[in-house]
Amino acid sequence: MSVACAAVSICCLSAYSSPDKIIPRPVEYSVSEGFCNLRPDGSDIKVYLGTRDFVHRVKDLPDFAREEAYELIVSSKGVKIYAMTEEGAFRASQALEMMRLIDRDIRCCTVFDYPRFRHRGIMLDESRSFKGKDFVKKQIDALALLRMNVMHLHLTDAAGWRLQIDAYPNLTDHVAWRKGETYHEWEALGYPFTDAQDPEAYGGFYTKDDIREIVAYAAERHIDIIPEIEMPGHSMEVNRAYPEIACVGEDGKPRPFSWDLCVGNDGTLRFLETVLEEVIELFPYRYIHIGGDEAVKKDWEVCVNCHKRMQAEGMTHKNELQGYLVRHIEKFLRERGKTVIGWDEIVETGLPEQAVVMSWRGTPGGIRAASEGHDVIMSPNSYVYLDYYQDLIRKEPKAVGHMQSLRHVYKYDPLEGIAPEYHHHILGLQGNLWCELIPYAAHAEYMLYPRAFAVAEIGWTPQEEREFFDFRERCLTLVTVFRSMGYNTFDLFNESLKAQTGRLRFDNPSFIL
Ligand code: ACM
Ligand code: ZN
Repeated sequence: MSVACAAVSICCLSAYSSPDKIIPRPVEYSVSEGFCNLRPDGSDIKVYLGTRDFVHRVKDLPDFAREEAYELIVSSKGVKIYAMTEEGAFRASQALEMMRLIDRDIRCCTVFDYPRFRHRGIMLDESRSFKGKDFVKKQIDALALLRMNVMHLHLTDAAGWRLQIDAYPNLTDHVAWRKGETYHEWEALGYPFTDAQDPEAYGGFYTKDDIREIVAYAAERHIDIIPEIEMPGHSMEVNRAYPEIACVGEDGKPRPFSWDLCVGNDGTLRFLETVLEEVIELFPYRYIHIGGDEAVKKDWEVCVNCHKRMQAEGMTHKNELQGYLVRHIEKFLRERGKTVIGWDEIVETGLPEQAVVMSWRGTPGGIRAASEGHDVIMSPNSYVYLDYYQDLIRKEPKAVGHMQSLRHVYKYDPLEGIAPEYHHHILGLQGNLWCELIPYAAHAEYMLYPRAFAVAEIGWTPQEEREFFDFRERCLTLVTVFRSMGYNTFDLFNESLKAQTGRLRFDNPSFIL
């Protein structure tokens, strides 16, 4: 029997739903005799917040887990939900909804559940390919169903600025529009920008009303949006829009094709502060991501303004310019009640403890940051980069790097390598979907699902309760559900043996899924 046939038969045997079929796997559950078939109008679901028994039940959980904890009691007469907060009740409703989507007949059961980590997120790269509001809202629905709570939007990068900023109209009149539908076409053409009226224009941006709509939509689902305004690297589009703040070359002329912002120019600092003031008004959350990765720093070597800044600040190496900028912006945001998140490069150049580090160059950056007292979100490219291949290179659309199959992603534990005394600094994890090679919405969903299911379960379920083959069986069911909801998932039923098992052949005949 082929693996694919075996997998399909498992899925078709689901004649009812129950908590052991959902993702993430709940912390505790039991099933009993009988079934519940919920009324479509939800009138048989009762919610109780902060009851004495429930308060007692969650009293020893960490604060964040208590907020999201719930108890779900499904009986043949209907459903009772107990939680401390609306957020906990919402998580319960989504666990119930996933059961209902798997099968309308739900086994009578009791579930007691809460998350392992406070940050369970997915990042979408809206700069390299702009997929827009409806796509983002559809993925917010998916995150909600997976009991995730963060969507990080990478809104600015060389390939396009994607957020309306009233003070700087060139950002959306000009560098939100490029020639070249895909990132690599644009690159091959020499990075041309154009405007929306050009029939060959590719691009777009979020208006302020779009962002308000997304933020409200996410809030109804208890999901926070983290905006990322990238600096100082990955910022060529800013220099193209406003060359007067770009680094100056040896010829005394501005360098609009410079990859990095000019840290020597006070105009750059004013630009960033003004942009961030507008960002703060739109995103009512604690965190703002300021990028910080992969600055090239080449033009800083020759730029007269960068030299002046280095002299004035007593710097001896160009790298210190990055630290200067990040500290300046961190202070600016802290004074406005915000906490900075940055990619792990930011730990290398001196940083206040309050800044949160997002570890992407594998896990070492996060391990170091946690040991230096920073809170950390783990998103290592060695495990949870969802733009990497998910199956054999020969069978997949062009992707990045080595294979990060569902099995590989699921292996990750965010506390791996972190000394126990620093565990409290690990806020959680995030899967990142960079889109240089992913120009279309259907392709993005193909890369996201089912690997986002693994990110969700890692973030929620206790490590000792996680087991890959049990998880994979649930994924086969959920992939079918997602497809029926209109998501274009990877075809897990035809995943190669190598991706499933790490081996090319079954050498143990009892090992059949
Ligand atoms: C990154 O992947 N450059 C954060
Ligand atoms: Zn400069």
